[in-house]
Amino acid sequence: MTSKILSYKQLELANALERKREKRIFAILDSKIKNMLPQWLQFSPDVFWMQTPEDQKNLETFAEACEFFLKQGIQRGDYIIAVGGGATTDFAGFVAATIHRGIHWIAVPTTLMGMVDAAIGGKTALNMPLGKNLIGAFHEPEEVWICTDYLRTLSSHDVLSGKGEILKYGLLNQEIYDLIMTPTFEMEELILKCANYKQSVVMNDLRDQSQRVFFNLGHTLGHAFEHVLRIPHGIAITMGIKYLFKAYDQKEGLQAFDKLFKKLDLDEDKTDLSQYSRFNKKDFWQALSHDKKRTSDGVNLVLLDKIGAPKISPTNLPMLKSRLEALSDFKG
Ligand SMILES: NC(=O)c1ccc[n+]([C@@H]2O[C@H](COP(=O)([O-])OP(=O)(O)OC[C@H]3O[C@@H](n4cnc5c(N)ncnc54)[C@H](O)[C@@H]3O)[C@@H](O)[C@H]2O)c1
Repeated sequence: MTSKILSYKQLELANALERKREKRIFAILDSKIKNMLPQWLQFSPDVFWMQTPEDQKNLETFAEACEFFLKQGIQRGDYIIAVGGGATTDFAGFVAATIHRGIHWIAVPTTLMGMVDAAIGGKTALNMPLGKNLIGAFHEPEEVWICTDYLRTLSSHDVLSGKGEILKYGLLNQEIYDLIMTPTFEMEELILKCANYKQSVVMNDLRDQSQRVFFNLGHTLGHAFEHVLRIPHGIAITMGIKYLFKAYDQKEGLQAFDKLFKKLDLDEDKTDLSQYSRFNKKDFWQALSHDKKRTSDGVNLVLLDKIGAPKISPTNLPMLKSRLEALSDFKG
């Protein structure tokens, strides 16, 4: 199944939801955006609220949500609407994938990260004590409704995190790069282009067998940065790409990275390792060796010969480590 990506203004979104009321609506909603939802949904008895989505993206809350919906009488032909950031849509998608062996769902991402990445592509997940996203299922939403009006209330931290993913798309796709480089571009147009680009790749490779693996650009280092520095995913991925390109002397890649970084108004301080006094190299190497994207004997890095031309470069941890250690930020 391929998700339909639709764009709505906030008012239109209320109408779109209204149209779905022909059926009974079950929903999983981030409580932070409660006031931005139609009143009837705010007071619906069929809503499971997420107060702290990332912390609740776990087995315990999953069991609570399933029990809640089953008691409310959810049927196999019903569907769930998920409104929130990536943690909410990952969680809701997993509930939808498993309840009655899978029911339809609609994703309404309310963060930049959700709009360009997390809500698209059907990777649903829960975190486990041993790591993030270790349990999950592929279950694409039937529709993804993008409403950029939600971004008005997003913290600057979360905006930067989403922009990190956009920067990655700019490196992987020439059209996205060109759009970002136009003197004035509309954020909404860029978001829709990124969402449709991800959807077009997923359509041909839902399960990470070919093109979809290129979305892992920067993720090997990025996950380790995210873990040891406790920073948002997209900021960690931006750092992952930058240090990977430096370590592998990807001159064209670095040039494009710098241009995108400036144009997207990303924050130098938040992506420079020297700014993090809490950085612990030992913890970083350990996190790197636990990355779930590793193969048994090594790491498949995504490198970039030029914009739009990523390639897989197999290596092993000692080689990667020695290249990183040659960089000034990793010395000492
Ligand atoms: N499935 C995938 O393909 C995929 C891809 C990337 C990331 N992810 C997952 O997505 C999550 C990260 O996404 P995220 O950054 O959206 O996290 P998130 O859902 O935790 O949202 C970040 C914060 O923003 C708040 N928020 C949501 N919408 C808001 C709004 N409109 N205004 C103000 N605050 C708002 C949330 O309550 C939260 O505090 C992680 O769990 C990650 O594993 C999944």
